[in-house]
Formats: sequence, C-alpha cells, structure tokens
Amino acid sequence: MIRLAGIDVGNDTIKVVVDGINEPVIVPNVVAAGYERLVLQEEDSPLKALDVMVYSPKLARNNQRYFVGTLAVENEDNVELEETDNKALSDQSLVVALTTLAYAGVAGQSQNVPSYNSTDEVEYIIGTGLPVRTYSKFHRTFEERLIGEHEVTFLTTPQLRGRRVKVSIRRALVSIEGAAALFHMATYDSLQVKDEELYYGCIGICEMGALTTDFPVIKRMSIDNQFSSGEQMGLASYLDAIIRDVEDSYGYRFPSRTKLIGRIRNRQYYIQRVGEGRADIKPIVDMYFSRAAQRIVDLIKKKWNKYQDIECFYVIGGGASALKPYILDAAGPIKLRFVDDSELQNVYGYLKLAKSKYNQPAAI
Ligand SMILES: Nc1ncnc2c1ncn2[C@@H]1O[C@H](COP(=O)(O)OP(=O)(O)OP(=O)(O)O)[C@@H](O)[C@H]1O
Ligand SMILES: [Mg+2]
Repeated sequence: MIRLAGIDVGNDTIKVVVDGINEPVIVPNVVAAGYERLVLQEEDSPLKALDVMVYSPKLARNNQRYFVGTLAVENEDNVELEETDNKALSDQSLVVALTTLAYAGVAGQSQNVPSYNSTDEVEYIIGTGLPVRTYSKFHRTFEERLIGEHEVTFLTTPQLRGRRVKVSIRRALVSIEGAAALFHMATYDSLQVKDEELYYGCIGICEMGALTTDFPVIKRMSIDNQFSSGEQMGLASYLDAIIRDVEDSYGYRFPSRTKLIGRIRNRQYYIQRVGEGRADIKPIVDMYFSRAAQRIVDLIKKKWNKYQDIECFYVIGGGASALKPYILDAAGPIKLRFVDDSELQNVYGYLKLAKSKYNQPAAI
C-alpha cells in the first residue's frame, strides 16, 4: 500500500503527517554518532530513543549508526544545523527525514512485531518543500535525493528493537515553504476552498523557521515571482546568542537550541547553577527576542510598502509562535495575523499538495 505523506524537512524539527493519521510525528533535526549505549531503563516511547543505522544510495557515508532527535539532544557531541547548511543537500537532514518516515510507517503497528531480522517495507508518495531562495536551483536535486529505496534499522529503540524498515519513496512533490502553509489555511482536508479571501486574494506570508525566513507573496494561490523573497535568518541565531550570553553571564551551558527552546516554551526561565544558586534568564531572552521581532516587523513593512496590493499578512512558522508577543509589540498599529500550531502549517500544506497532485487515479 502506498501512503501519501507530507514531510517538512525543517532545520529545527522534521515533521511528518501521513494521510489518514491525525497526529504529526515531530523529530528534532539533531544527530549524534551512535554507540552501544547503556540502557538502564528503557524509554517509554520510541521517539525518545531513535538509535538507528541508515543506508541510502544518496548518503555520502553509509551504514553509520546515529542517535537521532531527542536521544541526540542531550548528547555532548550532537550536531545541529548551521546557516550554511542547505537542506536540499544535507546528509544530516536526510538521515533524520528517513528515520522519521520509517518510524511514521511502522508506528502503531508494533504489537504484531515481525520476527527479528525481517524487513518491513513502507512505500510513500510525499509532498515536501524548500525555502523561496533555494527552490528554483535545488528542487530537482532535492526530489532526486528523496526518491528511491532507503533502509533504516532500529537498534536499541524501545518497541522497535532490531526492526529493519525499507523506506521506498516513489514520488516527491517539492513546493515552497510558506506558500504550502497558505494552501493549507485556505482549504479543507477535502481540498475544497475553505476561505475565499485567502484562496482568491493577494496574501503576504512571513514564515519564520530556524535558519530561514520566507516571504512568499501569493495571489489567487499562485506564487508571485517578482515579490516573493527569502532571508537567510531565523530564530536559531537568536537562540545561539542567548546560549552564549547565558554561558558568559552564569557559566551555564545549554547543550542544544532544542533544550533552550523547550525551557522557553514552558516558561521555565530559571536555571539551576552549581552550588544551589539560581539565575533568571528572562531578561536575556527578552532582549534577543525583541530584537528578532523588530527585524521581522521591519522586513514585513518593507515588503508591504513595496507591494501595496497585499491585503493581509500572516506571520507563521515556529518563529511566529516563539515571538508572537514581541512581534505584536513591535508592530504597533500594523495588523498582522497569526494562527495556532503555526510550525505545522507547512507540513499539512505539503500533504494537501501531494494529495491534489497524486490522488487523481490517472496520476498514479
Ligand atoms: N510552539 C512553539 N513555541 C515556541 N517556539 C517554537 C514553537 N514551535 C517551534 N518553535 C521554535 O521556532 C523555531 C522555528 O521552528 P520551525 O519548526 O518553524 O523551524 P524549522 O521549520 O525546523 O526550520 P526551517 O524552516 O529553518 O527549516 C525553532 O527554533 C523552534 O524551536
Ligand atoms: Mg520551516
């Protein structure tokens, strides 16, 4: 059975939604070199301990063992992506993407575990996307890297120990970050028009991710070539700056951006210092987040001034969730729109676009 899925290969997290399954699978885009780890108590969910070996004809190094996602987040030697990484070419992103697709393909069916050493196969048609600035040059390459037969073997992962999963990607439809999100917001799951203003209007989008921020302008659901643009900046550089400042001020080092944003999301601004001291990092967070918000608002104003046909502006992506109060503050009288679960709008859009292209019987 071929499944339709959307996958957002984010620089911060990889998100997968499989058609017919409501819950998205979300895995931090972090890896560390894997090794025979000591398991004192098995984790309570496979996603907490993705310990895998990955084979793909598209990877430079094969059959390497990796700790992926949450398991890597705590690791001293973990690798998060940098501004210079291109997600269309990144081996790390491919490793995490394949692991997430393999997991999403077998999740929920672990009760009838096949015998050790057998191989499951999951077949996909996927929708995905690239930033505005990378799209035209790299969408073919990205599509070619995804399509094919790959293999993920779970090692010490609870419930999936020793399970080998062949991930076959038959087709991949690459669209544009932010634009796909608008398609999702404007349509129902049946792909019928849900919001005529969005579907037929001229809409500005600011989609702030971890390393890139995209500003597609979309008119009647077509992307405007002249006015759409993208910036090589996202929330990550501000998180890195916060990590640096906290370390300089308090000698406390967050092992990863994921750890820091987890604290910020839970409003846990106090850090525990050696010797029972506690420090409040909120002033540092406020300073950098206000700065980030001001930059975003300046970019939106510039775009809106240049192209006054834009009827409304949506601020989405994980960056919008993190910065919303600061952006509202910086925007003053300018009305900006926000949505819930803004970091998931793209991935739902990718699934819908794949559905609209491939669900017609003639296309498959
Ligand atoms: N609900 C949320 N609240 C606060 N911060 C969030 C939320 N969701 C995501 N973030 C943070 O916002 C940033 C961007 O998240 P997002 O998921 O949009 O990035 P990405 O898609 O992985 O990256 P990119 O678009 O650059 O490839 C990340 O640093 C993430 O930790
Ligand atoms: Mg993104």
